[in-house]
Amino acid sequence: MPVRIAPSILSADFARLADDIAMCEAGGADVIHVDVMDGRFVPNLTFGAKIIEAVRRVTSLPLDVHMMVVEPERWFDDFAAAGASGMTIHAEVAPHLDRQIARIKELGCRAGVAVNPATPLAFVEEIAHELDLLLVMTVNPGFGAQRFLEYCVGKIARARAMLDEARSGAWLEVDGGINRATVARCHRAGADTFVAGNAVFTAADPRAEIAALRDLATT
Ligand code: DX5
Ligand code: ZN
Repeated sequence: MPVRIAPSILSADFARLADDIAMCEAGGADVIHVDVMDGRFVPNLTFGAKIIEAVRRVTSLPLDVHMMVVEPERWFDDFAAAGASGMTIHAEVAPHLDRQIARIKELGCRAGVAVNPATPLAFVEEIAHELDLLLVMTVNPGFGAQRFLEYCVGKIARARAMLDEARSGAWLEVDGGINRATVARCHRAGADTFVAGNAVFTAADPRAEIAALRDLATT
């Protein structure tokens, strides 16, 4: 199974965003994870299209935009125009997943759906064959540096089985509390894409940390 490491710029130094992104790129990151929060779906606020566009200008890596927002469709056009490579919406606030996924694809982006720790996979089961990415949250979204929720490991394995059953080539991403201690368990359960914010950006050497996470994932 492939391993993709996706540093989350939520934990970067926003005053030195370009430097931090260049560091991730030098460290071999596969994807840059961009956490958009609206203060409504989650109790925190981050940024929108302007920052996505600024990030797009300083890297050639794919931008994986995680939309922790209500009514995500309001932002699809702007984020696609700003240079998002993929947009991931939350199943809990997306009552028309079929239509919303189709629209993301129409805009030329990879379509992802995220489920919170307490949200059953049944929310996405019927549409699994249409997904480019399934994000299994391993913390309650809203903040970086939270503790990994162990009970999500079984769900990662069930998500892998669900995607295989649907003959889906979707990336299976995990997000929240991914670090040296948790990455291998997630990989063994079937995840292939690993978001890491706190682990990468608090490391003495973020480049080495990205490499270490990649190595440890397959141990
Ligand atoms: C949580 C965000 C995550 C977060 C990653 O709401 O979606 O992407 O930045 O968390 P840590 O810091 O645990 O890697
Ligand atoms: Zn995220």
